[in-house]
Amino acid sequence: MNRITSLFDIQYPIIQAGMVWCSGWKLASAVSNAGGLGIIGAGSMYPDVLRQHIRQCREATSRPFAVNVPLLYPNVEEIMNILVEEQVGIVFTSAGNPATWTSFLKEKGIIVVHVIANTKFALKAESCGVDAVVAEGFEAGGHNGREETTTMCLIPMITAQLQIPVIAAGGIGSGRAMLAAIALGADAVQVGSAFAVAEESSAHVNFKRRIVDAVEGDTKLRMKKLVPVRLLNNPFDDAVAQAEAEGANTERMVQLLGRARAKSGMFEGDMEEGELEIGQVSAMLSDIKPAAVILKEIWEEFMVSRDRIARLEF
Ligand SMILES: Cc1cc2nc3c(=O)[nH]c(=O)nc-3n(C[C@H](O)[C@H](O)[C@H](O)COP(=O)(O)O)c2cc1C
Repeated sequence: MNRITSLFDIQYPIIQAGMVWCSGWKLASAVSNAGGLGIIGAGSMYPDVLRQHIRQCREATSRPFAVNVPLLYPNVEEIMNILVEEQVGIVFTSAGNPATWTSFLKEKGIIVVHVIANTKFALKAESCGVDAVVAEGFEAGGHNGREETTTMCLIPMITAQLQIPVIAAGGIGSGRAMLAAIALGADAVQVGSAFAVAEESSAHVNFKRRIVDAVEGDTKLRMKKLVPVRLLNNPFDDAVAQAEAEGANTERMVQLLGRARAKSGMFEGDMEEGELEIGQVSAMLSDIKPAAVILKEIWEEFMVSRDRIARLEF
């Protein structure tokens, strides 16, 4: 047991990240049943859809699971009320101010974790009373910090300053990477991209295939004038890169992004014009596998690597 496995009452300190269009009840329950912590990603769900996912997840697993709420999306208040009504025990908030909802959730007895990408927000989250933070480095898929701090630098900076547990995220898709994060002081890891290609992920199969085909250099951090996001290369990403090179202003970037591109890319499989969010670790992913296998492989490689390093002589 460590601080995170006892906080969440789980077997392994491996958390499946909340991911828009990928992490519904099927993925979350599969990970929780395998001994990790599964997270339902509320960011791509209407409130009534989220309620259904919570209920189906509870039917599919008797183990703890969580819900991720990106605070920048609309309907946050309605979503928070649903979490309370449905008695969700663990909430991961992200993309917003931890001061807004932490005390509301804590008063209801809910465990709160906030996602941060720099020291300033880590300290702020701690002062707002969260139980733990996810520290997400530059390599990560999805939205990201403007500072471009890599996981390798972010984790020791955060663990040096915080008293509460730290969950490392960004670039972790193997047991060796997990061991490195723990060596840097993290209590657990949050894995996104590697679970986005799980069989139980609700991502479109075109997207999953494109991820496992991705090679080094295929993802870039874009949209820094809006909310920075790591995108997989495709014609839409080329258009974003060109606009950014031409110094496009915020208004033009909003126009270019348009509406529902993330859904059309990741959920409906439009590999040309869709927005495809994924991390650098995609270059190391090669198979679409069940979530339980992904988790088991990470854990087993972590244990083997830990023993190998313990035997090293210098
Ligand atoms: C497809 C995709 C969608 C994501 N959506 C969200 C989200 O809705 N909320 C959130 O807090 N983070 C989101 N993220 C970030 C993940 O929660 C996680 O922190 C990140 O993927 C970790 O880095 P990795 O991809 O290198 O494992 C997303 C990541 C991916 C790949």
